[in-house]
Amino acid sequence: MREQSPLRPRVGIDRIGLYLPGYALALDELARARDVPVDKILLGLGAQKMAVAPPWEDTVTLGANAAARVLASGRVAREEIGLLLVATETAVDHAKPVSIFVHELLELPSNCRTFELKHACYSGTAGVMIASDWIRSGAARGRKALVVATDIARYDLRSSAEFTQGAGAVALVVSESPRLLELDPVTGVYASNVYDFWRPLDRREALVDGKYSLDCYLAALDGALDDYRSGLNGAGSIPLTARCAALLYHTPFPKMAHKAHLRLLEREWNEAARRGDEYASRFSTGSPEFAQAAEQSYAALVEPALGLARLTGNTYTASLYVCLAWLAERRARELVGREVGLFSYGSGCCAEFFSGRFVDGSAAATAEIGAAELLERRRELSVAEYESFMREGAQGGTPGRDDTGFCHLAAVRDHKRFYERSAWPR
Ligand code: HMG
Repeated sequence: MREQSPLRPRVGIDRIGLYLPGYALALDELARARDVPVDKILLGLGAQKMAVAPPWEDTVTLGANAAARVLASGRVAREEIGLLLVATETAVDHAKPVSIFVHELLELPSNCRTFELKHACYSGTAGVMIASDWIRSGAARGRKALVVATDIARYDLRSSAEFTQGAGAVALVVSESPRLLELDPVTGVYASNVYDFWRPLDRREALVDGKYSLDCYLAALDGALDDYRSGLNGAGSIPLTARCAALLYHTPFPKMAHKAHLRLLEREWNEAARRGDEYASRFSTGSPEFAQAAEQSYAALVEPALGLARLTGNTYTASLYVCLAWLAERRARELVGREVGLFSYGSGCCAEFFSGRFVDGSAAATAEIGAAELLERRRELSVAEYESFMREGAQGGTPGRDDTGFCHLAAVRDHKRFYERSAWPR
């Protein structure tokens, strides 16, 4: 564990807000409809359900709902927010950012700097890093940042990627002396121009080179871990899998987190063998003994964070923070003071590995995330209803409302979008 300089402010995630649309599709139903073996999805991808955004929800309403929930539950006053960053790869306009709609819906102050961030799934983490640096630099002048990650993952109907869609948003209050997760200043970054996943300007659905994207993800994990290690200047000789109480990975589908963890373990095992550590010399990474140790490590460090991702699907920018919300809500009390590692990946690509630790009292800061309540109130769609939602959503959205959130798309006129609020969340 690294010492913080007494002069460096303690910065991190103060509160987490979560929002899911009110509809879901069971993936075994979709598998049967597409004539795909159910086990390929449930076991091969590790996914059970995906959240489906109705045509009257977009990244503005998803993000504003997550943000309104975090301000209400965290008792954060609007005047305290000096920076609003909205990360998304599902923008509603090429020029006008999602963030300015969210700014208005939340009634944030006019001196709050706001903009939208894009780099596929990575930009939520870009927002967290920018917000943390803004606070560390002193420019925040005691104010807090609100980082919103909001997305709707859409691929073509009947493509193999169809099973890895999803929708949702997470809002993070980033502050000095955080009440939830203090972030360590050293991180590891990797960037490289690859065409693994993209969405040309005229398309609503993403294109993907599926198998290649898995390789790009794992190469980026290697690169980010190498950079992280060099940033520690020799202080990081204890393997992450021994140091961390939990490891969270960007989760386009849960089996990807399994593959990532296996890669991390293999790296650390091989390094330990090269150093001549006794435990790593007993068997190689190809052996059944290693496979057994890997499963135990995965079950202890990774699986506890994946429960919500299994039921929502890929939420792109929000995906890593969906895992954090789920873990924090369930385990913050027992993880106080323990290190947690987080790996963020955005296709294209940019990736970052960073770490933090839950602070004293963090369980109280997670009491109102409300993941179970959001899941319970979802209505399950038939495959036909889901297809109709997807077709309407692909037209740019249809004004409408349900009783899930506090705001909705009220009208689209002259290519302008208008939103309305109902009651604030409690
Ligand atoms: P696919 O061709 O449908 O599936 O593509 P597959 O043939 O690769 O099979 C999937 C797994 O199921 C395999 O497991 C099979 O063995 C297994 P693995 O060998 O990989 O461990 N399987 C079975 N298991 C049990 N019973 C059976 C059975 N049959 C097969 N009967 C793919 C899958 C993920 C490629 C596809 O869904 C896709 O293209 N998804 C979108 C891309 C994606 O999610 N990429 C992830 C990495 S890139 C990333 O994370 C960035 C992203 O979030 C975007 C951003 O940054 O903005 C996507």
